[in-house]
Amino acid sequence: MNILERKLNSKKAVIGIVGLGYVGLPLAVEFATKGFKTIGIDINKNKVEMLKRGRNYIQDVDDIKLEKVLRNKKLFAYDNFDLIPKCDVIYICVPTPFTDNKEPDISYIMSATEGIAKGLRKNHLVILKSTTFPNTTEGYVQPVLEKSGLKVGKDFYLAFSPERIDPGNKVFTTENTPVVVGGVTKKCADLAALANSKVVSKVVKVSNPKVAEMEKLLENIFRSVNIALVNELALLCDRMGGINIWEVVDAASTKPFGFMPFYPGPGIGGHCILIDPYYLEWQARSYDFVTNFITLAAETNENMPFYVKSMVIREISQLDKSIQKAKILFLGVAFKKDVDDTRHSPAIKIMELLLKDYHLNIFYNDPYISEIVVDNLKLKSTKLSKELLSKCDLVVITTNHSDYNYDFIVKNSKRVIDTRNATKNVKNGRDKIIVLGSGARRGYSV
Ligand SMILES: NC(=O)c1ccc[n+]([C@@H]2O[C@H](COP(=O)([O-])OP(=O)(O)OC[C@H]3O[C@@H](n4cnc5c(N)ncnc54)[C@H](O)[C@@H]3O)[C@@H](O)[C@H]2O)c1
Repeated sequence: MNILERKLNSKKAVIGIVGLGYVGLPLAVEFATKGFKTIGIDINKNKVEMLKRGRNYIQDVDDIKLEKVLRNKKLFAYDNFDLIPKCDVIYICVPTPFTDNKEPDISYIMSATEGIAKGLRKNHLVILKSTTFPNTTEGYVQPVLEKSGLKVGKDFYLAFSPERIDPGNKVFTTENTPVVVGGVTKKCADLAALANSKVVSKVVKVSNPKVAEMEKLLENIFRSVNIALVNELALLCDRMGGINIWEVVDAASTKPFGFMPFYPGPGIGGHCILIDPYYLEWQARSYDFVTNFITLAAETNENMPFYVKSMVIREISQLDKSIQKAKILFLGVAFKKDVDDTRHSPAIKIMELLLKDYHLNIFYNDPYISEIVVDNLKLKSTKLSKELLSKCDLVVITTNHSDYNYDFIVKNSKRVIDTRNATKNVKNGRDKIIVLGSGARRGYSV
């Protein structure tokens, strides 16, 4: 038995987690809770300081669990890579954003890899978790690690194992969601699978890192394409009038096989579904291959905030006042319900479009987000009250947080645009509500 196997099986292995964000911190807490000494590394000094003071900044991480692993000296946080040699397994969980013109930006992966390479030693296992294009592990990470003079598969081990965490999901967590692993060599895959098996119930091995990298992109592109399909049908329903896409999807969902429901909305956000299709699109171009399907889906989804903007303008242009005087309240600015993440939030995009083009009077409320910046303007979440709702000319539901009382919202609002069908169970005041894709107002255009 290899020394790393022995250490993992006896819980003597030290786990290093580089990047303590939405992916890295839950993983670190999971390993620490299972009894592994875990060293978290993040270049963001604020996050490290917060952890040192026992403060949680990730909604999905349980405060009590975090407090316990810090108190028991199982989890430590650092803002440098000095302790890399002390780790046995090192996970890379850093961001993979795109550039302004939507090309992959793997600079965070590369700088994390450089930090690890300086302390790389024999028997280290490095596992890349950040979503990225195929061949990042072998084509970019491996050469930097091998500059140390150590050889992959012989001296150290390297694998790609994508993350599947779904923030806000109370049913599927790190522990009960299977993970995929692709190792550069068979030994790399076996060791990475063993490490993962200490915190997840099922590990699926694939033949190499490229398969695992592509598999993660397929998962997210699958969602992007299917959301785009219903978004397109939502636009068609509004054009045709009289057909409600939400009812159509619910009816189709009664088929017990061969159909999976996806719902339209004001656009997609977050750090995954919006960005990842562009990673593959960019890579495909270097093979003289145009990913028509994937690109069309991304374009369709990115049009949705523009469409909602046109819905807003149409509604307020019917008021008895100039549109600059109209007061508009946005409910929910997180990119999806019940989370505190505003990355690429469609709500913020819509607000930005309205501020830039029409200088509108905008307010927002979000129980999870106290402050946002829209087009260089700082906005604070306004307390949701009867007075606020009734003073606004239009209320736009952009995120369907579960905490909202939709009966109360509709009752006290003058007019509501609902981009999520959040008001579907509201019985009274339906004549005030315009639901995106419900065919209630014909002929919106993008
Ligand atoms: N958030 C999700 O739901 C989710 C789900 C699946 C996959 N992913 C993927 O996981 C990766 C991480 O996403 P996230 O949401 O956790 O990002 P995040 O921004 O929440 O966290 C990343 C952390 O890495 C730190 N960091 C950046 N560069 C660093 C470096 N060189 N060294 C050390 N720390 C560094 C940042 O300060 C940040 O705290 C991305 O590739 C993302 O696509 C995210």
